[in-house]
Amino acid sequence: MAYALQNYALNIFLLALALIPFEGACGSHHHQLQHLKSLHFSLFQHETINRTGYVIVNGVQGGPGITETTTPFGTLFVFQDPLTVTANRSSKLVGIAEGTSITSSLDGLRSISIAKLTLRLKNHRGSVSIVGGTHNVKPSDHPIVGGTEDFLFVQGYVTSSPVDLKGVTVTYKIEFHLYWPPYATHAS
Ligand SMILES: *[C@@H]1O[C@H](CO)[C@@H](O)[C@H](O)[C@H]1NC(C)=O
Ligand SMILES: *[C@@H]1O[C@H](CO)[C@@H](O)[C@H](O)[C@H]1NC(C)=O
Repeated sequence: MAYALQNYALNIFLLALALIPFEGACGSHHHQLQHLKSLHFSLFQHETINRTGYVIVNGVQGGPGITETTTPFGTLFVFQDPLTVTANRSSKLVGIAEGTSITSSLDGLRSISIAKLTLRLKNHRGSVSIVGGTHNVKPSDHPIVGGTEDFLFVQGYVTSSPVDLKGVTVTYKIEFHLYWPPYATHAS
C-alpha cells in the first residue's frame, strides 16, 4: 500500500514535469535561427595546366592515363588558381584558391581535395578552408571546415561544378553557402 502511494506520487510528479511549458527555451532557439547570418554567392575558378596547376607526383601505372577528365590513381596535384566574378577569365579577380588534390578512385575520376579559398569581397575578407571529394565531371559538395578574418568559425559548404573542361585552362563554378554560428557573430 505504501509502495503504491509512493508510486502514485511519483507519477503525479512526472506528469507535472511533463506539463511545464518549454516555450521559453524553444522561443529563444527560434529567435537565434531567424538571425543566423548566411551568405550565398558564386565565383569561377580558372586552372591552367603547368601554369596555375601542376602534377607533383605521378600516379600508379596501368590504370587510366592523363586525359581531360582522368588522372592516374594516386596523382598528387597542386594548384593556385584565380577566382573571378564571371566565367570569363578577364573578369574581376576577387580571390585565389590554393590547394592540393590526390586522385582517389581507381577509374581516375575522383579525388580528395583540400583547399584554402582567400576572398576579397566588397563586405567580407578572409579565407574559408574546405575538404572533401571532387568528381572531375560532376558537381561536388565540399564541406567548409572553418575560416579566418571575416569568415572566422564559418560553416556550410562549397559546390564545385565543371563549366569548361576543354583546352589548357579549365573553369569551375564555385557556389558558396556560408553560415555563421551565433557565437561567431558575437566574437566579431
Ligand atoms: C605539363 O608539363 C609536363 C611535364 O613537363 C608535360 O609532360 C605535360 O605534357 C605538360 N602538359 C601540358 C598540358 O602542357
Ligand atoms: C571577356 O572579357 C573581356 C574583357 O572584359 C572581353 O574583351 C571579352 O570579349 C570577354 N570574352 C567573352 C568570351 O565574353
